[in-house]
Amino acid sequence: MRLRVLGTAAGGGLPQWNCACPTCAKARAAGPGAWRTQECLAVGVSDDAWYLVNASPDLRVQLLAAPGLTPPDGTRSTPLRGVLLTDGELDHTTGLLALREGAELDVHAPPPVWRSLGDVLPLRGLLACYGASRWHPLDRPLRLDGGLTVDAFPVSDKRPRYAAHFDAPGPWTVAYRLTDTRTGARAVYAPSLADWPDGFDAFLAGADCLLLDGTFWSDEELRHVTGERRTARAFGHLPIAGPDGTLRRLRSHPGTRRLYTHLNNTNPLTDPDSDRHKELAAEGVEVAGDGMELQL
Ligand code: MLT
Ligand code: MN
Ligand code: ZN
Repeated sequence: MRLRVLGTAAGGGLPQWNCACPTCAKARAAGPGAWRTQECLAVGVSDDAWYLVNASPDLRVQLLAAPGLTPPDGTRSTPLRGVLLTDGELDHTTGLLALREGAELDVHAPPPVWRSLGDVLPLRGLLACYGASRWHPLDRPLRLDGGLTVDAFPVSDKRPRYAAHFDAPGPWTVAYRLTDTRTGARAVYAPSLADWPDGFDAFLAGADCLLLDGTFWSDEELRHVTGERRTARAFGHLPIAGPDGTLRRLRSHPGTRRLYTHLNNTNPLTDPDSDRHKELAAEGVEVAGDGMELQL
């Protein structure tokens, strides 16, 4: 199984267009090589069958930069077969608009997300005018082209702000476990963890690689950096550090390659010179970077 990390920033990216906080300012000054695009993953088990997990607003440039995801010579086609949505957030769904030129994709989404993308943010109806994508409410394990199986684990009922009043039972946010049926290689992708639910450690057990929510270093980070009153948890993201942070949870999975993604632009880990990297390294945990390739 090949994982191509297309983007690793939370909504807004790094730097964010309207922000000159210390980490945004430093990234802006360093130039495009230091920037992060909004989080998205591509997974492939064969050259001609790739799936996206989430569809970032930065998808067009991400695909242009991804060897293996470009059209075969002389064709107007794509090795992309489909998209798995972990939730309905704008930074995970609006990239679907960038695929309207041709891809006939299978788009899988948790049932309430599938419903809200019909009724509240009507991407399903809009995109139907441009192509023949097939949309599927995800309510059972999937077996995809090339020998990739997908299990979804309900993480939380965190819903997008635009769907705050849309009445649909959860789960609104899921984690995906991706398994290559030929080799047994397995990865878990969970860029949005409002909670560490019962049974989640068992879901992670046995994976070769975990890519998890690294939005905020600390619960108070937004207050410290931007004056925002809400904590990381109030935004639906468990912080990395602290007694209930995800870094401690990851100690239960010592043999597994563990990486953080979906970093908010206020997160000190977006600064390559931050001492916080030493704290991660001491636990054997990494930060994913845009363009990273993982072969499992
Ligand atoms: C989130 O990850 O919490 C959302 O994407 C926030 C947003 O971009 O509105
Ligand atoms: Mn997000
Ligand atoms: Zn900023």
